[in-house]
Amino acid sequence: MIVAANLKTNLTRKQTKEYIETLDDFVKTNHINQESFVFPATSSLDSYDTDVTIGAQNAYPVQNGAFTGEIGVEHLDEFGLKTILIGHSERRHILGETQDVILQKFNYFKELGYTIVYCVGEPLEKREAGVAEMMDYINAQYRGIDTSYERLIIAYEPVWAIGTGLTPTNEDIIAIHRELKKKSPAPLLYGGSVKVNNAKEIMALQNVDGVLVGSAALKVEDFCQMVTFA
Ligand code: G3P
Repeated sequence: MIVAANLKTNLTRKQTKEYIETLDDFVKTNHINQESFVFPATSSLDSYDTDVTIGAQNAYPVQNGAFTGEIGVEHLDEFGLKTILIGHSERRHILGETQDVILQKFNYFKELGYTIVYCVGEPLEKREAGVAEMMDYINAQYRGIDTSYERLIIAYEPVWAIGTGLTPTNEDIIAIHRELKKKSPAPLLYGGSVKVNNAKEIMALQNVDGVLVGSAALKVEDFCQMVTFA
């Protein structure tokens, strides 16, 4: 089981440091072996001394150079990072990243041997349009992706469930995870309004290999509790 926290643009550098220290202590004290990940805001990345895997929420597929506002691999290297989140719906929909851009990032970081947490998921209108249309939409998010990459983790995050308190039914999660498992043997996480009170149940569902948590992970005590469920 994998439990991952996507902190998005929350928590300052100081708060992130405290968060990671608390989580690291918790994991060590409780002899927790399964992998947990934290994706801090870019300005809170650092060389953390921890057993927790720290990843970047985004980076530009270059070593360094003239890409205003972005960070390149040189910066991730400085912190010893080898894990990245790619294809998150907020980058697809708010930042306008196309599948071509996402694929360029995927191939670049794959070439460098990064662990890639690759996100897919449909908006509400696609879900309401029925299974065939929803699957066409999700299939397009797999276009070009090497689904057999050994350091790939996939996160299924229905856009309409992110930050809304809504989740698909357990049956819906099982059904879609079954379909997505046919596409790739990679560990498959569920994300979208995972909370302390539903994380255990979701992680117990068939073909759910863990969870990717946003808002409910912001309190480290809650995230620690979810780690114990894994
Ligand atoms: O990447 C995790 C995320 O998008 C889910 O967010 O706030 O619904 O847990 P949230």
